[in-house]
Amino acid sequence: MTHKALACLRRQLPIRLRLTLWYVVLAGLALVAFGLFQYYRMQSSLIASVDRSLEITLTQAMTSIDSENGQPAFQNTDTFGQISSHLGKDDFAVRLVDARGRTLDQLGNASLPVVEGLPVSGFSTVSQGDPRWRIDTQPVAAPGGQPSGWIQSGQSLAPMDRTLADMRTQLLLGLPLILVLIAAGGVLLADRALHPIDQMTQTARALSASDLSKRIDYHGPSDEIGQLAQTIDSMLERLQAAFNRQERFTSDAAHELRTPLTALKGQIEVTLSRPRRGPEYQRALAGLAEQVERLIKLSDALLFLSRADHDRVSMQAAETNLTELLEMVADQFRPLTDSSQLRLTTDLEPAVCCLADRDLLIRVLYNLLDNASKHTPPRGEVSLKLRREGQQALIAVGDNGPGIPAEHLPHLFERFYRVEQDRSSRTGGAGLGLAIVGEIARLHAGQVSVHSQLGAGTTIQVRLPISPD
Ligand SMILES: Nc1ncnc2c1ncn2[C@@H]1O[C@H](COP(=O)(O)OP(=O)(O)OP(=O)(O)O)[C@@H](O)[C@H]1O
Ligand SMILES: [Mg+2]
Repeated sequence: MTHKALACLRRQLPIRLRLTLWYVVLAGLALVAFGLFQYYRMQSSLIASVDRSLEITLTQAMTSIDSENGQPAFQNTDTFGQISSHLGKDDFAVRLVDARGRTLDQLGNASLPVVEGLPVSGFSTVSQGDPRWRIDTQPVAAPGGQPSGWIQSGQSLAPMDRTLADMRTQLLLGLPLILVLIAAGGVLLADRALHPIDQMTQTARALSASDLSKRIDYHGPSDEIGQLAQTIDSMLERLQAAFNRQERFTSDAAHELRTPLTALKGQIEVTLSRPRRGPEYQRALAGLAEQVERLIKLSDALLFLSRADHDRVSMQAAETNLTELLEMVADQFRPLTDSSQLRLTTDLEPAVCCLADRDLLIRVLYNLLDNASKHTPPRGEVSLKLRREGQQALIAVGDNGPGIPAEHLPHLFERFYRVEQDRSSRTGGAGLGLAIVGEIARLHAGQVSVHSQLGAGTTIQVRLPISPD
């Protein structure tokens, strides 16, 4: 199979099968390695025990060697003690050989195989024919010190080979059986571990763009899978909230656009219902222009908020002297407050600077001053304050109007939110001004807050990070 085909197969195999395969392969390798280790350990310990008994035999046999006609020979075989019982069997023997390997004398009935070549001292395994033999060879020293021959003790390895063959059979039969059990266990475990993922897949399948209400609702332990389920659930929660917000925004926007458009249509129909003279048309068109102005303001606000949602507001942040900017806005706004018989006071700390977009800040100030002046009765006071507070610049626009009931305060910065009594559109707002203020503060990494007391007035505070000195 080519490498490509293998990769393709790997991609297509379900994860539980892949896990099980890995599990079986790794367990199989570990078992084979362990089996081989045990097998060779057993083999070497069996050989060591054979060697030990050969060595003992040889040492004992050595003591009963005598010289007969200048050649070594066994004497007094009764002194063999414990090993003599071995010698009755046909798998054990001790013999004396001459320097060329010919047998001179032998104890025991077994036919020890002939070792090829000249005798060499030490242990050797002779594997010609069946069974194999283990032979220990040592030189026999003549009285003159020269080796006069060699003594060899030999033991058949047939019992050891039988034990090892038994072990091989057990391993060969047992290993596949254990692997089958491991595979079954692997499938079971993988199945259990992946069950919650199946549950997630089913939930995800049941979701649609218009219904994000389904949740995984996992009740298992808070392990990796539990955390994944929780993360997906909270992501769905946020998505659904964003989706609902967007839906409300669209329908509120459509509703807000409809009101001035209906008014426009009504005015046009009334104007066209009968022939009119020039000044009447002029008056009607001026009324229409006012409605169109309101529509432009509304669509402008909607466009800004939609850009802010997608982080596409073009922001030209520059080092801005807030003190000067607020002074300038107050001067520009004063004629409007004068015409409503309001007093606009300023209390500005000098030289407070921050990195900001001037146009956006002017928009914030106009919205806040507009709200304050709309909600303050004649001879009231609107104040504009600027203070440095730690690493922030605090801009506060206050008034001594009627204040806002506490239950409305948490919603004030929501889009299209207006306090109930304002819905009559006496003040004519769409409820987007404070939402825009909130977005601009967010774009400047700042915060907005509102403090209001019924009958005493309202203050809206905007905090912006100031530039380090
Ligand atoms: N200084 C204030 N005093 C009393 N109520 C206020 C004040 N500022 C805001 N509000 C209330 O908060 C509501 C939301 O204000 P926001 O500026 O968002 O909308 P708006 O002024 O009604 O419309 P827009 O600003 O879009 O023209 C207003 O409808 C008004 O009821
Ligand atoms: Mg407003």
